[in-house]
Order: sequence, then C-alpha cells, then structure tokens
Amino acid sequence: MTKDQCFEAEFSPEGGRIFFGSEVKKLCKKAKVAVVGKIRDPQMAEDALANGDADLIIGSRTHLADPYWTLKAQMGRKDEIRKCMSCLECFKLFRPGAHNMRCAINPFVGYELTATEHNVPKTSNPKKLLIAGGGVAGMQAAILAKKRGHSVKLVEKSERLGGHMRLAGTPPYKDSLQRAMNWFIAEVGRLGIDVEYGVDVGLDYIRSYRPGVAILSFGAEPARL
Ligand SMILES: Cc1cc2nc3c(=O)[nH]c(=O)nc-3n(C[C@H](O)[C@H](O)[C@H](O)COP(=O)(O)OP(=O)(O)OC[C@H]3O[C@@H](n4cnc5c(N)ncnc54)[C@H](O)[C@@H]3O)c2cc1C
Ligand SMILES: Cc1cc2nc3c(=O)[nH]c(=O)nc-3n(C[C@H](O)[C@H](O)[C@H](O)COP(=O)(O)O)c2cc1C
Ligand code: SF4
Repeated sequence: MTKDQCFEAEFSPEGGRIFFGSEVKKLCKKAKVAVVGKIRDPQMAEDALANGDADLIIGSRTHLADPYWTLKAQMGRKDEIRKCMSCLECFKLFRPGAHNMRCAINPFVGYELTATEHNVPKTSNPKKLLIAGGGVAGMQAAILAKKRGHSVKLVEKSERLGGHMRLAGTPPYKDSLQRAMNWFIAEVGRLGIDVEYGVDVGLDYIRSYRPGVAILSFGAEPARL
C-alpha cells in the first residue's frame, strides 16, 4: 500500500479497502479482521460485517467529522450524520507549527471539553442576530448561535442556501462536498432557523432590522488583478 492510499482523499471510492478484509480472512481463517478507510455510511459498515468481509469496522476521520456517528446510526438517525468529506484538512495537524486538530465541517474538533454538537452551553446574554449570507459559513454561524440560545435570522441573497459549495461539489469525485452542504442545509431546517431568501443585505436592511449583532458571511469574489 502506498502512502497516498493510507489516507484517501476525495478521489478514492468509499469503503474501497473493505475488499482487503475479505482477502485477509480467506488466508487467515482464524484471525479477527478489522477494516478501515472511508467508511462513512453505517449501512456500508453493516454490509461488510454481514457479508463476512470484516469482524470489526474502524473509523478515524469518520468520527472526527461526527463523533455521534455510532449513536446516530444506532438510533436510526443516520440521515443526521455529518459525513467526512475526505478533504484532509485535519492532516494539517502534522504541519510544523500546528497545535490543534481541526476539521473542515466539525468546528468542535479540538474544543470537545468546551462544547460538542449536542452539548452547547447556553448564553446568559441572548441577542438578536442577523446573519447575512447563507453559504456554509453563515449556516454554521446560524446553527451555533441558535444552539447558544440567540434569536437568529439568516438572510440569503439567492433563492437557496449553500453558496459556493454547490459549485465546489459539482465536479466528478466532489460529491462529498455536496453531501456536507446538504447536511448544513438540513440542520438549519431541523433547528427551525428563520431563513429569508432573495434579499441583498446592505446597510439599509441592517438599519431597519436593528440586530444586536450582524454577521456578514458574504463569501469572497474572485480577485481581478
Ligand atoms: C470551483 C470551486 C471549487 C472549490 N473546491 C473546494 C474544495 O474542494 N474544498 C473546499 O474545502 N473548498 C472548496 N471551494 C471553496 C468553498 O466552496 C468555499 O470556501 C466556501 O463555499 C465558502 O463558504 P462561505 O459561506 O464563506 O461563502 P459562500 O459559499 O460564497 O457563500 C456566501 C453566500 O452569501 C450570499 N450573499 C452574498 N452577498 C450577500 C448579500 N449582500 N446579502 C445576502 N446574501 C449574500 C451568497 O449568495 C452566498 O450564498 C471551492 C470553491 C469553488 C468556487
Ligand atoms: C489525524 C489522523 C492521525 C492518524 N494517525 C495514524 C497513526 O498514527 N497510525 C496509523 O496507523 N494510522 C493513523 N491514521 C489513519 C487512520 O487510522 C485511518 O487508517 C485512516 O485515516 C483511514 O480511515 P478514515 O477514512 O476513517 O479516516 C490517522 C488518521 C488521522 C485522521
Ligand atoms: S477535515 Fe474533517 S471532513 Fe476533512 S478529512 Fe478531516 S475529518 Fe474529514
């Protein structure tokens, strides 16, 4: 196995290493065999066990992106699992000077003693928040603020949430980005966050809404040099 096969990026198939398990089991009949590598869907894990490809399933980034993966699967809430995109952002930990592990889609990584997705401390000072821009940054801000107990309004210029992740998740092998984006959109819905579409937020809108705090998550425009 080469180094790039140890930590597969977006371009490798999900569960692509499960077949190693069945091969090893054929050769070592008494051995208990575990498989690992891009096993993101609990059904894929169940199938590997049921087919006898493995005796044990291991997840690494699977559980970084969603530490509640097993619990959500057990509870029949697998649609709520935030599936790792295999983007390798977490591997920046190994760069010189890096201190904290991070995950592109789970902001609690590295801060688990302070909060987790299902254990967000409530604020003692609830505010009226306006979050303008419904890309992943605005959606994540809205999700966390709502869980903290703030009053949240998310306003998006276009007719749908997602921002540039829609485009980013379009090319072949990039569907894990679309999947992550869909998780954010679904979570906004599950939390009942108030979303207004088709409004190009500017100063007039902010003045008339009179928020306690405004978060502008407008994304970026390509630089023209
Ligand atoms: C082609 C392409 C490929 C990419 N590939 C990857 C990749 O492989 N991996 C990766 O991690 N990232 C990738 N990215 C980057 C990733 O898509 C962005 O980092 C991410 O989408 C930024 O999210 P955001 O919420 O900050 O901004 P955006 O996604 O830009 O969202 C901003 C939102 O604000 C809205 N908005 C703007 N102005 C206003 C206003 N005045 N009022 C109300 N709403 C407003 C916009 O309509 C939009 O919905 C890619 C980007 C592109 C374009
Ligand atoms: C941050 C990080 C550190 C890892 N460190 C090791 C390690 O020290 N030794 C090892 O054998 N595998 C290590 N792995 C690899 C995982 O055990 C696993 O084989 C690999 O990430 C593929 O599984 P996944 O798609 O669920 O992440 C590491 C993975 C991550 C994400
Ligand atoms: S940063 Fe998060 S989403 Fe990206 S590969 Fe690591 S665990 Fe997966």
